[in-house]
Amino acid sequence: MAETINEVKFSDAAMAEIQRYISHYPEGRQKSALLPILHIAQAEFGGWVSPEVMDKIAEILNIQPIEVYEVATFYTMFNLKPVGKHVLEVCRTGPCCLRGAEQMIDMLKQKLNIEEGETSADGMFTLKPVECLASCGSGPMLQVRETFYENLDSEERVDAFIAHMRSLEPETPTWAK
Ligand code: FES
Repeated sequence: MAETINEVKFSDAAMAEIQRYISHYPEGRQKSALLPILHIAQAEFGGWVSPEVMDKIAEILNIQPIEVYEVATFYTMFNLKPVGKHVLEVCRTGPCCLRGAEQMIDMLKQKLNIEEGETSADGMFTLKPVECLASCGSGPMLQVRETFYENLDSEERVDAFIAHMRSLEPETPTWAK
């Protein structure tokens, strides 16, 4: 992990993608590229953005660090501390709860031996509660990166989901392929 802003180095592929986003906006409006750049940074640095990484983004965009912090802390899709290989974003909003979200979350906690917000001892899973993911009719459900896993309404399905995730490598961002 980088300890200072000067130790934060984006790969050439990531920098090229960052510059591509910045080029979409007129001079002086580079901040408009902040959200995609935070996504790139999160993919680049192990699934989370540290204060040093956010400071580097501010430097690249020529804005104040607080302008990056306020966006990164607002959206739950950005992780502000180290996470496991797979971040399970579990929906805990009303409609999913009516369809068994609390039982699904309890099963995940018990099977992975973690509480909400924690990472499993093997570094494989982080359990992250989030609000409605707009798949209410298919609850209980969760999201891992860009993929929805739905109807996790039985122990059998939760077990199959965990086995599936253990067999996967994290997705490589398109720009890094
Ligand atoms: S309430 Fe869970 S997806 Fe909408």
